[in-house]
Amino acid sequence: MFVSLVALVAILPVFVNAQSPVYGQCGGKRFQALVGCSAGPTTCAAGSTCTYSNPYYSQCLPGGGTTKTTTTTPVTGPTSTPHTTSTAPGGSQTPDAGNPFLGHNIYLTPFYAAEVAAAAANLTGTTQTKALSVAKIPTFTWFDTVAKVPSLGTYLADASAQGKASGTPMIVEIIVYDLPDRDCAAAASNGEFSIANNGQANYFNYIDQLVAQIKQYPDVRVIAIIEPDSLANLVTNLNVSKCANAQTTYLACVTYAIQQLNKLGNVYSYLDAGHAGWLGWPANLSPAAQLFTSLYKNAGSPSFVRGLATNVANYNSFSTNSPDPITQGNANYDELHYINALAPVLQSAGFPSHFIVDQGRSGVQNIRQQWGDWCNVKGAGFGTRPTTNTGVSLVDAFVWAKPGGECDGTSNTSAARYDYHCGLSDADQPAPEAGTWFQEYFVTLVNNANPPL
Ligand SMILES: *[C@@H]1O[C@H](CO)[C@@H](O)[C@H](O)[C@H]1NC(C)=O
Ligand SMILES: *[C@@H]1O[C@H](CO)[C@@H](O)[C@H](O)[C@H]1NC(C)=O
Ligand SMILES: *[C@@H]1O[C@H](CO)[C@@H](O)[C@H](O)[C@H]1NC(C)=O
Repeated sequence: MFVSLVALVAILPVFVNAQSPVYGQCGGKRFQALVGCSAGPTTCAAGSTCTYSNPYYSQCLPGGGTTKTTTTTPVTGPTSTPHTTSTAPGGSQTPDAGNPFLGHNIYLTPFYAAEVAAAAANLTGTTQTKALSVAKIPTFTWFDTVAKVPSLGTYLADASAQGKASGTPMIVEIIVYDLPDRDCAAAASNGEFSIANNGQANYFNYIDQLVAQIKQYPDVRVIAIIEPDSLANLVTNLNVSKCANAQTTYLACVTYAIQQLNKLGNVYSYLDAGHAGWLGWPANLSPAAQLFTSLYKNAGSPSFVRGLATNVANYNSFSTNSPDPITQGNANYDELHYINALAPVLQSAGFPSHFIVDQGRSGVQNIRQQWGDWCNVKGAGFGTRPTTNTGVSLVDAFVWAKPGGECDGTSNTSAARYDYHCGLSDADQPAPEAGTWFQEYFVTLVNNANPPL
């Protein structure tokens, strides 16, 4: 009797403290099974409420109580910009004012450098020299499977060391790209998770793993593009049943991604916004702005969401005097016109309207038969180099989001991920699976680079 009481007393305080932190898990089938016979921590820290997401996941989200106010001494950031602390939902810090690319160097990922080096080894002469120079141009890394996430830790450790050695802090550029039922309106980039098979919980776990890596390197700034094509598909492709079925899951997953990344205080996010030939049609601008804004506000207006990324993996010009004939009279015939048309709608709705624009493969124009053609377009060339000198205050940077040489999709009509766009006459063939190296295409990009390499 006495022994039991002591044991009970010892256990009690633990049980009382069994409370999940803000954004922690507070319910879900697997979670409660893991916790064992007693009910898991289904109560949440002060200022948050346990919110049901799906049968496998409930989460402590800010709100529903008195938010605990914390004050900390402002710390001096690596660029001597003062950081302050806010209690905004989902944020423990406020972002630096202004363009997050400034005052930093961008990390060159060894993975792409190795792809380029292998490609260059098969080339000779000036083509080889030009090809090798591509490895020095900063390019985003796509985290398109959960298995790739540990490599982010390696890059961050490397970037942290480089930043300390040079005295200039580093940026690591990532693309968050692993939604369940990914690429709902096409086939080439179908992903590893499906909604029917626990996809949302798997996605949350993928985000948790990214967060766990980034958290270890607060001195490295991460610039993240969030889920290419996903929200644009929800604007225009809800008549595709896979997109309609994915709608609530995409929204829940993108919300989770931006909230979790926001908490870190060193990740600046840009939501993917398609491109001029997609959401830039006048009829799509307002629906797009409404979707971005409602998602953002429902997520608690995460302060490190900086704006939108456009033209990711696409071929559009940033600004041209002669519209490509495929633009068929759309007044927003290039990315700048699209951005200038979208920004005021976003601003009046309360969405942060800063942009980054992929120009990695936009060096050559007038090469497509239709504006919707996106797969390994023949005759493309590397485009304007990454820079913050965009000439437009709305645009933080031109970036290379798509690593040139990595394939858009297979041209093998028997492959499970074959998409007809990759078999069109303006698509370079034969093409391997999406994401794998496409040597002949890389050589084309090198030779057609504009400005030249
Ligand atoms: C380079 O050439 C070798 C030998 O032909 C081949 O095995 C390898 O796949 C090629 N690499 C690339 C990147 O094309
Ligand atoms: C969806 O609607 C668009 C625009 O009207 C149309 O072009 C497309 O073919 C439709 N797709 C399906 C699967 O119905
Ligand atoms: C095309 O895909 C099918 C199905 O996966 C495969 O059996 C075949 O070998 C592939 N063909 C080529 C040329 O890669």
